[in-house]
Amino acid sequence: MSSRVPFKPQQVDAPLTQSATFLVLSITDTADAIRTVRSTLASVGDLSKNVSIRDLSASFACTIGIGSDAWDRVTRLPRPAELHPFPEVKGNKHTAVSTPGDLLFHIRSERRDLCFEFEKQLLDTLGDSVKVVDETVGFRYFDVRDLLGFVDGTANPVGPGVPTSVLVAEEDTPVIGGSYIVIQKYVHDINSWRTLKAEQQESIIGRTKFDNMELDDAPLQQQQSHKSLATISDSNGNEHEILRDNMPFGSPGSGEFGTYFIGYSRRLWVIEKMLQRMFVGEPPGLHDRLLDFSTPLTGTTFFAPSASLLETLDDD
Ligand code: HEM
Repeated sequence: MSSRVPFKPQQVDAPLTQSATFLVLSITDTADAIRTVRSTLASVGDLSKNVSIRDLSASFACTIGIGSDAWDRVTRLPRPAELHPFPEVKGNKHTAVSTPGDLLFHIRSERRDLCFEFEKQLLDTLGDSVKVVDETVGFRYFDVRDLLGFVDGTANPVGPGVPTSVLVAEEDTPVIGGSYIVIQKYVHDINSWRTLKAEQQESIIGRTKFDNMELDDAPLQQQQSHKSLATISDSNGNEHEILRDNMPFGSPGSGEFGTYFIGYSRRLWVIEKMLQRMFVGEPPGLHDRLLDFSTPLTGTTFFAPSASLLETLDDD
């Protein structure tokens, strides 16, 4: 690919952008559906180039994820070792629901019109082979804040930590270079959240609101913050990070205030453990207080294969 086009297919760690579209599709049972999906996925790099060339400075990127139920039909290749449907997580008070989805397109750009144009061309190409399950348009809010007012994404890995925590390596060679993706579309009860004092909000999140300083973990067995519950170590004490590119979405006119959570990981179990700790609590019973103000409407797991694997799909 020419270095003049700043676009890499399946670039999981693409820059944070001003705009993003999260498009979840299901594959229909029309006669040619699988063939159309395979050829579209194989050539999606060309579709991306069509759009990204129109503004080289707009950091266009599209990452495609394939859901567990669709993997065999679409790829006809060995399954990623950990790939399975999103498991519902039921806590005493809150539930992480599991919802369907065969394909995910995570479309990012500095410009809303590029995201729009790509989505239009993509859906034209896919035709009646797919149905839209959910389409959410996200925007970047002041200082990379979520709509609860906190800077979101600070603890993401950087530099060499990104591939180490995000891309499958020698542990699963058939899908090397791919990444597990979990999405959840949350809506906030913004009016209740606003009744809390800033200090109460800060102890729920685990960071200060204005200047984004990290707070200490609570003593063991006590109510932990979101940041502490989402920090995962394995039995050897190694911490495992994930890469998040959450986006605010919503509309004040219709009273909708949301956060679209998207997490990329080399190991699916790491994100699932975060969800267990958030919804069930650690210790169990002390769930993440963020959930008293945030409800997930969706929950779906995908696998983003490497660009070279995607290109092989158009072989029939
Ligand atoms: C309503 C939805 C959510 C909101 C508004 C939210 C917001 C935040 C904020 C403000 C932080 C602190 C700053 C930062 O490091 O990014 C944070 C940290 C984090 N969140 Fe979330 N989050 C949400 C859901 C989730 C979910 C569902 C997961 C995982 C399944 C998750 C995983 C993490 C992780 C790994 C961290 C970093 C922890 C660390 O300091 O190492 N978040 N989140």
